[in-house]
Amino acid sequence: MAIGQDISKAAAILRNGGLVAFPTETVYGLGARADSGEAVRRIFQVKGRPTTHPLIVHIEDRQELELWANSVSAEASALASAFWPGPLTLIFERRPEVLPEVTGGLDTVAVRVPNHPLALQLLREVGVGVAAPSANRFTRVSPTRSEHVENDLGDGVDYILEGGVSFVGIESTIVDVSGPTPFLLRPGGVSKEAIEATLGYEIVLLEKSETRAPGQHPLHYAPHAEVKLLDLANLRTEALRQVGLGRRVGVLARGFNAEELPAAVLVHAVAGGPDDLARELYTALRSLDASGVDVILASLPEPAGIGLAIADRLKKAAGPRS
Ligand code: TXA
Ligand code: MG
Repeated sequence: MAIGQDISKAAAILRNGGLVAFPTETVYGLGARADSGEAVRRIFQVKGRPTTHPLIVHIEDRQELELWANSVSAEASALASAFWPGPLTLIFERRPEVLPEVTGGLDTVAVRVPNHPLALQLLREVGVGVAAPSANRFTRVSPTRSEHVENDLGDGVDYILEGGVSFVGIESTIVDVSGPTPFLLRPGGVSKEAIEATLGYEIVLLEKSETRAPGQHPLHYAPHAEVKLLDLANLRTEALRQVGLGRRVGVLARGFNAEELPAAVLVHAVAGGPDDLARELYTALRSLDASGVDVILASLPEPAGIGLAIADRLKKAAGPRS
């Protein structure tokens, strides 16, 4: 595994059927050329992900959509115009030639144009769509820095394209536009409110029960430490109670008063607004985890704007572990 900023090298590896982790504005992706079943199958091996979980095809320009989508509705077109390049994934009825390795055998395909200069340059040089899930081990926290990818996947990747910190920090919003009515499959970097403003009506978040629906696996987005969600006002008391039980405690919150806490409490205080919390969320979970805390206490943001996506990920991180 090598790491660097050589886009031409990364593109050549992808063209030859290799795996490249690359930066996007949301999280790092683990890419393979989407027209090679053999290359795509390696993604699942390296991630440890069940092959029924479909992947997102990353394209450089909206013109390429016709290679993947069978038809593009007026709503889909409006959303693509408003948010591409950007943190929005659209689900279309697939063209017949799209590989089952990419779609998990579904009749639909997920597509997005990422908003990151290195990702766009890479896609341009590869010349074909790149299938990529987030570049983490299955069920773990997504990577927003190259060292996260290195720690998770190491030698499983042929090259990591170094692109600094992902500036959104949380995965793309997924909207299914394959049927007559669009619905939201995963809240993410584009707010539900912004989608609704473009469509001119309200959109429903579909909580599917099948494991192949986005992030529905009970262990999704989880650090190793237990995660507990509380009101901001109760964080301090709970931190002290946990210390009393002999546990090492991590706290992740905005607006938390970290003064005069015992050494067994590690605080990742987020300055700024919900966008800053989104950008720092996965780094904070990973670094609290790495410092060996037994439990991470966090408060949920308001479920509006990017807060809806943050709340979704924190709830999943706090979810059942069986
Ligand atoms: O921001 C992102 O979306 C990042 C970057 C790398 O683009 N990618 C990402 O990929 O989060 P991944 O594989 O971790 O999550 C994609 C989700 C999966 O949960 C998958 O189930 C869902 O998209 N998905 C993909 N194709 C689908 C389809 N045809 N129908 C329904 N869901 C689909
Ligand atoms: Mg993922």
